[in-house]
Amino acid sequence: MPHMSAPTLKGVILAGGLGTRLSPLTKITNKHLLPVYDRPMIYYPIQTLVNAGIKDILIVTGGNHAGEFLRLLGNGAEFGLKHINYTYQEGEGGIADALRLAEHFAAGDRVCVVLGDNLIQGNVRAAAEAFRQQKSGARILLKDVDDPQRFGVARFAEDGSGRVAEIIEKPTDPPSSSAVIGIYFYDSWVFDIIRTLKPSRRNELEITDVNNAYLRAGLLEHSMLDGWWTDAGTFESLHRASNLVQQTGANCL
Ligand code: G1P
Repeated sequence: MPHMSAPTLKGVILAGGLGTRLSPLTKITNKHLLPVYDRPMIYYPIQTLVNAGIKDILIVTGGNHAGEFLRLLGNGAEFGLKHINYTYQEGEGGIADALRLAEHFAAGDRVCVVLGDNLIQGNVRAAAEAFRQQKSGARILLKDVDDPQRFGVARFAEDGSGRVAEIIEKPTDPPSSSAVIGIYFYDSWVFDIIRTLKPSRRNELEITDVNNAYLRAGLLEHSMLDGWWTDAGTFESLHRASNLVQQTGANCL
């Protein structure tokens, strides 16, 4: 039998948006350039991708301070990279709208998408490997949290199979404590799905709608994340992120 090589996996970091939940900190800079303990926030998602063996990276940014990313990161030498790709999101259309801009970069390959304000203690190597073994589809990562209403949340099938039956965005009455973290694996079908999406109540193209489309097609798998996970898009979570990094370090398991 001929040896099948693993599909190429590229990385996409979504670092646009206006960061209004962190105003006035974000009045004069982009949220993803704010400090999380001893580094700019964007360093952590880059390290997450590099640690998963992903070296072909696109940063999607936007807003008024996009030029600063280039000044800070250049070609990514600090991360052992030879080159970083950049693109610019006009306006604020949500996570799935930002991801749409990665279609040209992906060029038919698979992508690992990381939200620029998501930090992890450990790594996503096992999930990336499991995704590489998948024939097609998508893979999400779940983490049990105390405040699931703030996130996309998994409702599990009642048949005891452990499969996810639905993902609900910011439920008032969460069906589980398993949050969908902001690290996603997609095949190239993701860009067709995005073209079918309608804006949500908060007038954004929701990544949860993308994941539910894969789910309905029977093409969504999940992994559980080890170690802590946090976002950093609110004052509380930004503060918590700094404390966690100080206490244990990030991207270090
Ligand atoms: C977004 C997603 C949500 C996910 C979260 C992870 O929320 O919509 O499903 O759980 O990121 O950080 P947002 O930060 O846009 O409120």
